[in-house]
Amino acid sequence: MTNKIKYAIIGAGCMGQEHILNIEIIDDAEVVALCDTSPESINQCLDLLKNDVSVFTNCEDLVEANIADAYIIATPNFTHIEVLKSVLKSNAHLLIEKPLCTTVEDCKEFASLTENYPGVIWTAMEYRYMPPVKKMIEEIHNKTIGDLYMLSIKEHRFPFLHKVDDWNRFAINTGGTLVEKCCHFFDLMRLIAQSEPLKVYASGNQDVNHLDEEYDGKVPDMLDNAFVIVDFENGVRALLDLCMFAENSEYQEELCAVGSIGKIETAVPSNDSGISISDVRIGLRESEKAKKETIAVDEQILAVGHHHGSTFYEHQSFIKAIRSNSLPEVSLNDGLVAVAIGEAAELSIKEGRVVEMNEFNL
Ligand SMILES: NC(=O)c1ccc[n+]([C@@H]2O[C@H](COP(=O)([O-])OP(=O)(O)OC[C@H]3O[C@@H](n4cnc5c(N)ncnc54)[C@H](O)[C@@H]3O)[C@@H](O)[C@H]2O)c1
Repeated sequence: MTNKIKYAIIGAGCMGQEHILNIEIIDDAEVVALCDTSPESINQCLDLLKNDVSVFTNCEDLVEANIADAYIIATPNFTHIEVLKSVLKSNAHLLIEKPLCTTVEDCKEFASLTENYPGVIWTAMEYRYMPPVKKMIEEIHNKTIGDLYMLSIKEHRFPFLHKVDDWNRFAINTGGTLVEKCCHFFDLMRLIAQSEPLKVYASGNQDVNHLDEEYDGKVPDMLDNAFVIVDFENGVRALLDLCMFAENSEYQEELCAVGSIGKIETAVPSNDSGISISDVRIGLRESEKAKKETIAVDEQILAVGHHHGSTFYEHQSFIKAIRSNSLPEVSLNDGLVAVAIGEAAELSIKEGRVVEMNEFNL
């Protein structure tokens, strides 16, 4: 394929706009269509785009028009399943924002409909593509720290932002915080551990955020802090430490992995801090000095997103998969299992028990 990859954006809100800004700086790609139910979101996107694009208010009409090679699905989580069913009537490549769907059941239903689908189907998991995180993963997989035993991921950040119609205030729309937000981290755990999850134990609550808000007489119900432990089949233990009332943290994400011969750690600068560099530090048990490597993200790439350059690198890999007709780096199954761990963690908190992953018949 020598032509540019033509993208259509379904869901032109906050994340759809981040995708647009990234596609605008990729030479062999262009946005040709927008599809959104909100004229305000459409207008915001039109302001970001250099070229004229076609505009649709529903995805059936977009599919019918058949003008794009790839669709980005960036609508609210609860709408993914219906949007996905509609776009399966096309042959387009699909980049589906996380979480794949709000429940394991919906993810399974979607997966069952995709057999023989000709396009690449890719679950968007941007955290895999953050340069310091990617470097850390490479080192762990190269056995720099020996056999991995412990992995911890800390995310301390600001509360959920306001979204179009505030869909993100309720678990029914999002899947719950541990699905909506933390599927990213469960995906990372599984990728780093190179193993499947066995059981999940979690403790968490909504202690601070959104308790003074009301929507149609209902107070939001999204957890704002939690500890989640995931045990993997190969013996790796992983911990998520999430706090969403921690504005002004120096780092938004901190990752630390300990193996049989050493430890590796990195941190991702806070969202929008403008800081482009981070260190990956490796300390071996039998060495007196730790080794530190500074990883930098190109300033132009950093400026077009809120995820430390990752959306740009994710698109490069997605486009490569399209052009080489290869398997997606982040599959439907990856998206499904990440949702399942999140759902298990929500259930563990609700029912105060260990949740075995075989309860989900994955
Ligand atoms: N990967 C990440 O780090 C990351 C970050 C933010 C959001 N997201 C994901 O991206 C998706 C969108 O989140 P957002 O923050 O952009 O929300 P948003 O509310 O800012 O934007 C969603 C847009 O979808 C539109 N929409 C709603 N229903 C639609 C439908 N049926 N057809 C077409 N358009 C429709 C809305 O009008 C709105 O413009 C969610 O799944 C979210 O979890 C991912």
